[in-house]
Amino acid sequence: MASTIVLTGIKPTGMPHVGNWVGAIRPTVELSHRPDRQGFFFIADYHALTGLRDGAQLRQYSDSLAAAWIALGLDPQRSVLYRQSDIPEVFELAWVLACFSPKGLMNRAHAYKAQIQKNTEEGQEDVDHDVNMGLYTYPLLMAADILLMGATYVPVGRDQQQHVEIARDLAQYFNREYNREIFTLPEALIDESTAVLPGIDGRKMSKSYNNHLPIFESRERIHKLVLRIATDSSRPGDPKDPQASTIFQIYSALSNPDQVQTMAKAYQDGIAWKDAKEMLFQQFENTFAAPNQRYQEFMAHPEALDRIFSQGRDQARQQAAPVMDRVRRAVGVGARNRS
Ligand code: ADP
Ligand code: TRP
Repeated sequence: MASTIVLTGIKPTGMPHVGNWVGAIRPTVELSHRPDRQGFFFIADYHALTGLRDGAQLRQYSDSLAAAWIALGLDPQRSVLYRQSDIPEVFELAWVLACFSPKGLMNRAHAYKAQIQKNTEEGQEDVDHDVNMGLYTYPLLMAADILLMGATYVPVGRDQQQHVEIARDLAQYFNREYNREIFTLPEALIDESTAVLPGIDGRKMSKSYNNHLPIFESRERIHKLVLRIATDSSRPGDPKDPQASTIFQIYSALSNPDQVQTMAKAYQDGIAWKDAKEMLFQQFENTFAAPNQRYQEFMAHPEALDRIFSQGRDQARQQAAPVMDRVRRAVGVGARNRS
């Protein structure tokens, strides 16, 4: 295996949409093709449990994310694709890290702080209202994900940078405490050029706004959603500003530079909104029709996913074993003469 490990996880909290593809799935697929990096990509299902309570749904979202990842180009023979919950060492390490983490480090983590702020603004008597310990210790589980596999680079969105820094801090405390290189120090990889894609109402595309374009839906449903994209009142023949148009931004995310240029020209020439929407719909079809077929096959045959998960689990646990062994030896737990 190549020595530089690139690792990231995605939480399975819904059905994949075009924003997830642009911001999370596509960048990992691109990275997975680099011969000098070994990719570890996983479904962060236990992270999703901080907010999800429907077991059947969590499983469906996990399958769906894995199927999407593969259908959209991740090659599980080249990269290690696994489910977080299949790796017991992650939870073992999370405990060890908890014992090394000052409580204040968790108090400063942004998801927890955001909830506290919301509670304060809403006048809640208990500032910790709606905070479960999973949410509070979320960064510890994430640090365990990262440090266990010896990741050097962790591609994430800006909102996750702090969590990667926490992982790095913990790795440093630990290495210093035991005076040896037990953990690799990880670094966040943040691609500023990755667009934040708008949804059909023009705000950031997100499940929580219900303004998203799901990737694996029927043509009819997608067509309807595309026709609903918000536009201004300019008429056919009026020149239009591509940069101010949601249709154009989504179209660009799905297109090559020549196609983007042609579309920009059509905007200057006053393309009707209806026609711009049809072009976007066509481009959606061109981009996702083949992946959709592969995705549907996986979802119809989850045993194929199970085989991939099982292979990924074995590879990930193999990667984790020497790290966990170093940790156990250093802290002084477990069998004395492990191999
Ligand atoms: P949602 O907002 O729909 O709940 P998540 O917060 O679960 O999506 O995001 C999952 C991943 O997809 C994250 O890595 C996030 O950065 C990325 N992502 C989500 N929405 C967008 C978007 N509109 N543009 C770019 N990336 C996005
Ligand atoms: N917390 C990340 C998110 O919400 C998902 C995640 C869990 C992750 N474990 C990770 C990302 C480890 C990178 C590395 O998007």
